[in-house]
Amino acid sequence: MKPILIALAAVLASAMGAALLYAWLGIYNVGAIDGHWAITRWFLHFGLRNSIETHAIGIDAPPLDDPSLFHKGLSHYQGACAPCHGTPGETRSPVADRMLPVPPHLASTVATWKPRELFWIVKNGLKYTGMPAWIAQNRDDEVWAVVAFLRQLPDLSEAEYRDFSRPPGQDGERDLETSARLIALAGTAGEQLVACARCHGLSGEGGGGGAFPRLAGQKEAYLYRTLRDYASGARPSGLMQPVAAALSEEETRRLAAFYAGADFAPDATGTDLSTDDAAKAEPDLGENIALNGIPERGVPPCTTCHGADASSGGDDFAYPTLDGQFPAYLSLQLRLWRDGRRGGGAFAEIMTAAARGLSDADIQAVSAYYAARPPGGARSAGP
Ligand code: HEC
Ligand code: HEC
Ligand code: HEC
Repeated sequence: MKPILIALAAVLASAMGAALLYAWLGIYNVGAIDGHWAITRWFLHFGLRNSIETHAIGIDAPPLDDPSLFHKGLSHYQGACAPCHGTPGETRSPVADRMLPVPPHLASTVATWKPRELFWIVKNGLKYTGMPAWIAQNRDDEVWAVVAFLRQLPDLSEAEYRDFSRPPGQDGERDLETSARLIALAGTAGEQLVACARCHGLSGEGGGGGAFPRLAGQKEAYLYRTLRDYASGARPSGLMQPVAAALSEEETRRLAAFYAGADFAPDATGTDLSTDDAAKAEPDLGENIALNGIPERGVPPCTTCHGADASSGGDDFAYPTLDGQFPAYLSLQLRLWRDGRRGGGAFAEIMTAAARGLSDADIQAVSAYYAARPPGGARSAGP
C-alpha cells in the first residue's frame, strides 16, 4: 500500500512540476487569434452551461409581458450589448469578432436558455469570456427588462428592430428640424442630447410605455443632482449610470437646464394612461393619499413636497415634480423606495420613509393621480 501511495505522490508532483515549467517557460500561446482545440471548446462550454443551469435554480421569473420592460431592455441592448452581440440583420463590431470566445449572435442562442438562466447570465456576467456583469446589482427589475427583450429577440425582423429602437416620437423630416434646433439650444451638450433622445425622446417627453421618464419641465436642480447621483452610483441604475458617468460637469449642467426649460411638441404631451396600473387604480384613493397621506401608516401628504406649488421646499431641496409623469415610472420608483432600493442623494431617506407604508394598490392609485395632472407644473410655478 505504502509504495503505491509514494509512487502516486511522485507522479502527481512531477505532473505539477511539468505544468509549472510549461507556464514558466511561456510556451502556451495566450493570444486570442488561435482558437481553442475542439475538445477544449467542448469542455469549456459543457462547464459553462452546467454552471449557469445550477446557479439559476430557484430564481423565479416575474411576469415579463409588460411592453415597458421590452422597450427598456431593447434600448439598453442597443447601446450596451449590440456592439458585441449584433442586432437582427446587422453584424457585430469587427472588434468583437476578434474576441475569444466570440460573442454569439443571441437571436440564434437565447431560445436554448430559460428566462431565469438568461437573468443569471446578464446579472452575473461570465468569467474569462469578456461578458460583463450588471452594473447595478440591486436593480433586478432592470435585468428582467433585458430578459423580457431577449425572449422576443429571435422573432424580431431587421425592420421591426430598427422601428423599435427609434427615439419615441420621432417621425422623419420634422424631427430632423427639431433635433437641429435642440442641438443648437443645448450648445456644447448637443451630441449627448442626441444620445439621450434615443430613450427620452427628442424633447425629453419620455415614452416606451413609461420605461423612460419624462424629463421636459422637471426642475433643473433635481435633474442636475439626480444625474450626478446616477454617475456616482448613489442612485443605482444599469441603464443610466454609464450614460451619466460619461457626462462632464458642464454637460450635466447644460442638459439639466435644457430639459427643465424644454418645450415638448403638443402631440407628444399626452401621457399614456392605458397601462395596467392606471386601469386598476382607484381615483379617489390616489387624490386622498396625495392630499392627506395615510396618517395611521405614517405616510405623509405628498403635496407637502410635491404640491401644486412645486417650488415649495426651495431649489436647494429640489423636490421633483410628479405631474404628468408616466404612471408605470412613478409606480416603479415608489416600489423601489419602499424596498429601500432606489438609493439617491441626501434626500433619499425622506422618500424611503414616505413610501414605507404604501400598499401596491396605494402606489397604483397615487401614481395614476399624478400622471393625470398636466405636466410642466414646476416650470409654470417658477423656481
Ligand atoms: C464585451 C463584449 C460583450 C458585451 C458588451 C456583452 N456580452 Fe454577452 N457575451 C459575450 C461573450 C464573449 C459571451 C460568451 C460566449 C461563449 O462563452 O460562448 C457572452 C455570452 C452571453 C450570453 C450567453 C449566450 C450563449 O448562448 O452562450 C448571453 C445571454 C449574453 N451574453 C447576453 C448579453 C447581454 C444582454 C448583454 C448586454 C447587457 C451582453 N451580453 C453584453 C460578450 C459580451
Ligand atoms: C438606454 C436608454 C437611456 C438613455 C440613452 C438615457 N436614459 Fe435617462 N433614463 C433611462 C431610464 C430607464 C431611466 C429610469 C431609471 C431608473 O429606474 O432609475 C432614466 C432616468 C433618467 C433621469 C431621472 C428622471 C427622474 O425623474 O428621476 C434623468 C434625469 C435622465 N434619465 C437623464 C438622461 C440624460 C440627460 C441622458 C443623456 C445624456 C439619458 N438620460 C439617456 C433610460 C435612458
Ligand atoms: C418631505 C418631503 C416629501 C414628501 C412628503 C414626499 N416626497 Fe416624494 N420626493 C421627495 C424628494 C426630496 C424626492 C427626491 C429624492 C432624490 O433626489 O433622490 C422625492 C422623489 C419622489 C419620487 C421620484 C420622482 C422621480 O422623478 O424619480 C416619487 C415617485 C415620489 N417622490 C412620490 C411621492 C409620493 C407618492 C408621496 C406621498 C405618499 C411623496 N413622494 C411624499 C420628497 C418628498
